[in-house]
Parts: sequence; structure tokens; C-alpha cells
Amino acid sequence: MFSWLTSSRTPINNLHELQFDMHCHLLPGIDDGPESIEESLSIIQAMVAVGYQGAICTSHIFPEVYDNKADDMLRGVDSLQSVLDKNNINFTLHASAEYMVDRQFIELAKAKKLLAFGKKDYVVIETGFTQENPYFDEAIYEMQYAGYCPILAHPERYLYLSQSKSIEQFEKIIDKGIELQINLFSLIGLYGRLSKEVAKILLKNNFIQWIGTDIHRSQHISLLEKANDLKTLSNSMRDNPIQNKYLAESI
Ligand SMILES: [Fe+2]
Repeated sequence: MFSWLTSSRTPINNLHELQFDMHCHLLPGIDDGPESIEESLSIIQAMVAVGYQGAICTSHIFPEVYDNKADDMLRGVDSLQSVLDKNNINFTLHASAEYMVDRQFIELAKAKKLLAFGKKDYVVIETGFTQENPYFDEAIYEMQYAGYCPILAHPERYLYLSQSKSIEQFEKIIDKGIELQINLFSLIGLYGRLSKEVAKILLKNNFIQWIGTDIHRSQHISLLEKANDLKTLSNSMRDNPIQNKYLAESI
């Protein structure tokens, strides 16, 4: 009988506050992201609808799986941006990548050939999900020596970190000068209960500097709406030093 009362409540609108996404797969046909330009456009239109103004495009650079190079990212962003502009979609793209940590990545870091973004030359890195990465410490050392700031993508999804549910593992990473990015959709359970729980623990401890959608496909568009109205997220964004919103002034 009072359904009009609940339906009239103001939506929380979390994502409008974030402004910029810094981990997403929007470029068509170069990794496990959108398969066509139309799919890229529908994802971006959905992002605009929930308040995003732009994104750092972080398609995978993962040798022998997604053999992309910096030039592929730069060309892909130029071409997608021109389609957005032609269609009057007000959304700014910037080229970067989600780098798998391996020997080739270390060589790119040493040669200062990583595609970085933001005022601290941030670079998003990933590892495999189950086991510790043998190149990790060397990669972090070389990145920092070359002047990059590492952001570890979705730490809540790595079993080797999260299965103990202990915050010590994450503290060790933060102590190395690495910033942490959780996936938005972890908070609504897209990757299972453990990732959801660990993402919440990380937020509760104010360990998170970045929130990325890590959106890949149009099937995930409906999750944007859900996350936009998530109370856990709005509470956490007050306490955590989330950096997304500062990207507009530094890229
Ligand atoms: Fe990703």
C-alpha cells in the first residue's frame, strides 16, 4: 500500500561521484571485451547514464593470450573516441592497459614503455588468480624505479591473497607502495561470495584507492544500475581515499 513511498526515494548515485572509470575493457575486438563497436557503444552509453564522464581503457596486455602492444591501445582509443564524438556521446577515453606481470612486462617497465595515466603515472597490473606470481616483487621494483605507481587490479579476486581472509597479506602489498583497486561488481557478488566478502573487508579497513568496473561485455550493463544504488558503496566511499574523481584533472 505504501509502495509509492519506497519507489520515490532518491537513488544513491554512487557512480556519478566516481566520475572516471580506471579499469575497463571498452575497445572492441582486442581482448575478451566487446566484440563490436556497437557493443562498445552500448556499454559506454550505459556508463554515461549512471554518471561516468570518461574512462581509462585497460584492455589486456598478456603475451600469448592477448598479444596487444601500446600502439594497439592508442589506435583503438583514437578510433573509438572519434565514433563517440561523431555520435555526440560526451565521454573521454584515455589509453592504458591491464598488464599481466611477467618477464616481458618487466622489460617494458625498465624501458619506460608502459602506458601510464594520472598524476603519479599509474599502471594497472594483474596476476593469475590462484598462485603467487614469481615475477611480482621484481616487477614492482622495476616499475617504481622507472617512476610508475603500481595499482593492483582486483586483489579480492586472487585466491592466494584472499582465501585466508586475513588483512596481513594486503597490508604487505600496501607497504610496498602498491595501490589497490577493487572491482565494482565484486560488491554485488559477480565473482562469488569470497571476493564479495574480501572486497568489503578491504573497504572497511580503508585499503582501497580505486574502484574499477572491469566491465567487459554488454551483459554486465544491468550491474551498473545495481552498483549505482548500493548502500555499502556509498558508505565506503566516504571513508576510503578513492582517487577516481581526481582523474579528470590529471589525464
Ligand atoms: Fe580487467
